[in-house]
Amino acid sequence: MMAAVDLIIFGASGDLSARKLFPALFQLERLSLLEADLRIAAVARTEQGLDDFLPVLREKMASYMGDDAPDEDEWARFTQRFSYVSVNFAEPKEYAGLRDWLDDSRISLFYFATPPSLFAPICEHLSTTNCLAGDCRIVVEKPIGENLTSSIQVNEALARYFNEQSIYRIDHYLGKETVQNLLVLRFANRFINSQWDNTCIDHIQITVGEMVGIEGRWSYYDNVGQLRDMVQNHLMQLMCLVAMEPPNSLEAESIRDEKVKIVRALRRIDERSVAEHVVRGQYADGWIAGAAVPGYLNEEGCEHESSDTETYIAIKAHVDNWRWSGVPFYLRTGKRLPEKVTEIVIHYKDLPHNIFGDGANIPNKLVIRLQPNEGIELSMVSKKQSLKERMSLQGYPLDLDFREGSDMDRIPDAYERLFLDAINGDQSLFVGREEIEESWRWIDQLVASCQKQGVKVRPYHAGSWGPAKAEILIEKDFRSWHV
Ligand code: BG6
Repeated sequence: MMAAVDLIIFGASGDLSARKLFPALFQLERLSLLEADLRIAAVARTEQGLDDFLPVLREKMASYMGDDAPDEDEWARFTQRFSYVSVNFAEPKEYAGLRDWLDDSRISLFYFATPPSLFAPICEHLSTTNCLAGDCRIVVEKPIGENLTSSIQVNEALARYFNEQSIYRIDHYLGKETVQNLLVLRFANRFINSQWDNTCIDHIQITVGEMVGIEGRWSYYDNVGQLRDMVQNHLMQLMCLVAMEPPNSLEAESIRDEKVKIVRALRRIDERSVAEHVVRGQYADGWIAGAAVPGYLNEEGCEHESSDTETYIAIKAHVDNWRWSGVPFYLRTGKRLPEKVTEIVIHYKDLPHNIFGDGANIPNKLVIRLQPNEGIELSMVSKKQSLKERMSLQGYPLDLDFREGSDMDRIPDAYERLFLDAINGDQSLFVGREEIEESWRWIDQLVASCQKQGVKVRPYHAGSWGPAKAEILIEKDFRSWHV
């Protein structure tokens, strides 16, 4: 039997904790998925008691959860698990209270919802104050570095205190139900897998569109941009799940081994190819859902008159291996686009020989919608029911709505799955060190190539689908973005 688990959340007063972590834990409580003996320590700097901490947390959670917020009984049951431990993270002597709270006969799951610059000092102080004496695991949030060098530094710092089997690196996209469904779709449906290569597929598009702007995070965001904030992690993970070979099991090692091969097989975007393969954009003012919104340089907190940080990026990528030879992957992601949408679209090739005449060649498309309206749509071709028209063809969607047949009336948040897995010691939806470092290697080269060739950001209006050049990126190949 697995030992009881204690969850220790550093940064418990922060925005991520109130917006995502505690609501996710609460939903697990509501579904009776937390073991009765699981304890939660909320760790933050402020010197206060649990009675001061909880009402503030409850109010913040209510503002994010709306109608789903806990009622009195649920809140009482949930918070029975809680302790509040105040620690100034930079001060080793302040860890004594935490040491007293820990119980080495149980598993300590440390969750770092803090800026990455604190990962190393917190680990060091936990170690010197003997807080890592028992069976410990650690969960860390992105970003793991901002380039290859700094990601190695962060990983090295973690590796000094934890072995790789105890480090859970979060990419919250992997916790999304529909992202996990990609594995099922590919590897539990024989007919799909046998058509999943360059003999049948023409190209693949991955779009992650966001309506939000930078949400008050200007100084953070201006140092990273959409490439580091979204492509290095989320889009890269989606691409790996789409492109990887079948793993031999669902074990973390097997899945990670296959994913990392894809990142290594990604063709480097060098100085010669960058202008043809990358389009960067930055939003100017515009309209989102009927409301006027400011441009990036007029956002609250903006510190500069100009900036070359991209809020949009489109990339034409290639995976250089046998299966994907000649199949481009078009990736695009941006802030302040007209829709919030995450979608993978598999475009199949034209028929090798068309017996139905002109206008009948409607290539199949498989649309995997990750959010919103999670589901899969396969556009098939069928005969139009008609006596007048002898053989007229039409595109017809086979539509699979994931909400049908679900045992839940809502799609669970990614953090619910990730918490459950971390508690149960399952690393398969967490990112391995090699994947992260290989992915930074590719990104670093792309950034350097953009800098050397002067690939600057192009303006686009908030509420549009990005700069016009992004249309050209795909249209010059006689293809178009899926809308
Ligand atoms: C985060 C990024 O990792 O993902 C944010 O830092 C982005 O900038 C967010 O808005 C998008 O996540 P989701 O789940 O809303 O698609």
